[in-house]
This record gives sequence, C-alpha cells and structure tokens, in this order.
Amino acid sequence: MTFELSDRVQAVPPSGIRRFFEIAEERDEVISLGVGEPDFSTPWAARDAAITSLEQGKTSYTANRGKRELREAISDYVADRFDLGYGADEEIIVTAGASEAVDLAFRALVDPGDTVAIAQPSYISYEPGVIFAGGEVLSVPTKKEDDFRLTVDALEAAGASEADLLVLCYPNNPTGAIMRESDLEPVAEFAREHDLTVLADEIYAELTYEGDHTSIATLPGMRERTVVFNGFSKAHAMTGLRLGYALGPADVIGAMNKIHQYTMLSAPTTAQHAALEALDSCDGDVREMVEQYDRRRQFVLSRFREIGMDVFEAKGAFYCFPEVPEGWTAEEFAEAVLREQGVAVVPGDVFGAGGEGHLRVSYATGLDDLRKALNRLEAFVEDHV
Ligand SMILES: Cc1ncc(COP(=O)(O)O)c(C=O)c1O
Repeated sequence: MTFELSDRVQAVPPSGIRRFFEIAEERDEVISLGVGEPDFSTPWAARDAAITSLEQGKTSYTANRGKRELREAISDYVADRFDLGYGADEEIIVTAGASEAVDLAFRALVDPGDTVAIAQPSYISYEPGVIFAGGEVLSVPTKKEDDFRLTVDALEAAGASEADLLVLCYPNNPTGAIMRESDLEPVAEFAREHDLTVLADEIYAELTYEGDHTSIATLPGMRERTVVFNGFSKAHAMTGLRLGYALGPADVIGAMNKIHQYTMLSAPTTAQHAALEALDSCDGDVREMVEQYDRRRQFVLSRFREIGMDVFEAKGAFYCFPEVPEGWTAEEFAEAVLREQGVAVVPGDVFGAGGEGHLRVSYATGLDDLRKALNRLEAFVEDHV
C-alpha cells in the first residue's frame, strides 16, 4: 500500500543540509563547523537538578503551560535581562524547545491563505512551519550591505505591507547579525502601520557581543502585536533537554496552549527542573560560555580576513557568514571543501533568500578544531582561488 501523503507535507522539500552529512560520514577526520548547537555540556548544577528530580520520582506531567515556579522564574529572568514584562499566569507558555513554540504560534495565528513574511536568510524551520499551518511564505531577503539587518526598504521591496505576520530572528541564524534598538524602530513602525503581527525568535539573545540585546517587543506599541520565543538550548547548552518558551499577550498564548495541551500535554518535566536551576544558579556558566564564543568569533573573523574571504562583522549567535570567492556557488564550494579538506560548513542558500554565495560557519567548536579547520580552508583557497 502507498500512503497518500498530505499536500502540505509534500510541498516541503527535504532539508538541504542532509546531503552534506552523508558526504561527511564517508570521510575520515572531518571537522564540522556545520552544527547549530553548543559544544559545551549543560552546566553541572542544571544537570544535577535534573538527576535529583529523577531520583525523587518527579516524572509526571506538569501543568500544560509548564511548572508555575518555572514560569515565575522565566518572568523574572526576561524582566531582568531584556526589560520584558510578562505575567506567569497567562502570558508565558513553556514548550518542548523554542521549535514547538514557533510551530504553535503559526498554528494559532495562520489561516489558510494568510501570508507570513520571513526575514531571510534565517533558521530553516520557519518556512515549513508556515506551510504546515496552511499559510503562504513571503521571503524578505536581507543584504550584506545592510549587515543582514532587516530594513523597511527590504520589507517594501518584498511587498510585506500586505502580509499578515512577520517573522524575524535576531541575533540571527545563520548570519550572526544583530539589530540594535535604532535598527528595530523603523521595522516596528512598519509593523504598526501595516498591522502586522510580529514573531520574534530571540533564542540567541544572550549571545550578543558588544552590547546588550534589545527585544522588538519592548518598543512602543509592539508588546500587543508580538510573540517572543526564547529557550534554554543555546545560552544554557541544553539542546537535548528540549525546553523553550513563548511570551505574548494572554489571548495568543492561550490559543497556543490550546494546541499544546492536546498535542504535547506538557514540556519535558525533567528539563523543567533543569531549567529552574539554570535560571537560579547558572548565570556564571552562561557568561563563561558567552566569553568563549566571543573569543572564537574574533578569531574566526580575523582568520577569514587573512585568508582573503569577505566576511561581515557578525555580532551575535555563534555563526559567521563569509562570502564564497568569485566563480563558486556556495554549494560547490562547501562540497569541494568537505571532500578535499574535510571541513564541513553549510551553504547559505539553505537558509533562504539572501543566503546565496555565502557559507554558514559555526564556531560552537573548540579553538583547537577551529584553528585546524581554518588552516585547511586557507590551504583550499590557496589551491583553488
Ligand atoms: C533561530 C533558532 N530558533 C530556534 C531553534 C530551535 O531551538 P530549540 O532547540 O529550542 O527548539 C534554533 C536551533 O538551531 C535556532 O537556530
């Protein structure tokens, strides 16, 4: 028997990164700068709290929206770190990773035929999420000349004034771009003027170098039209524990919870115990990891410049986004570098419009491996360019 797969699933192409993993598996001694997750272990205190909770048999479901104590801790944390005011009762939902929160928001807000503008290049899950929810994607390419920040010109050129929702992700995966308050203001004005709901994925907020993160939801008139996503995967190195959250007005968080309570019931209980401890006692671990990422960022940027590859000054997340030399497509370059030198990077086109001709290089890898990988890249460029 063959299954008749839904049109929505068939409309989404397979992930563009998969082929690279297959090549990487064939070759020995590959250094991967392809992954999007921390190379650090979860801070010990958070792991210990998870273990203790298991020892104590705390393995039941929690409240649908997440443990109240955790929602209170999240409420305090986002107020303290990002000046965001959200109540634990109705304005916060704890989810299985920020990924679930993003999916819930699309399903809660998108009707068939609605248009969702996505600032790209960006994290690969937004487009499929919109399609699974029955919406139409409108790509809004950002440009290297603008340091990959979203501008009103880009929104207007893409026709985003007609869209229903706008998704933005700063600090950005894959470019490492950030947006300061002054960059966000015109985008917020555009959203207000054209009545757009904004979905702001701020999962890399803690990983902002040279200054602090500003959330678009803190700008005038934005709280009531914005849903903010964050989580523990990146800053707290907790990817496998699967814990994220969304912040927003009570009606939208309530709608998201309606879907969540029927499909997920509650986010992983053990991870919620780990997250509580992470917020309670792991600020120092986060600071240390951020310092190390920053050191690596500066090293990688300076090596790309020495190698002669054009790269803009990434200031957030743990990625940089160099341009491939003339005469190459990103895919050709990434494949050749992997086959010849055993360095895995991801072609920028995988992340949507505006990513062509670039590579996503993750520095969530130790300095020794980064050094080796960049020496190999240098040898490749000397051979071929
Ligand atoms: C921008 C962005 N949002 C969300 C996620 C997924 O986060 P989580 O592990 O919390 O589902 C990622 C993971 O790479 C990401 O880069």
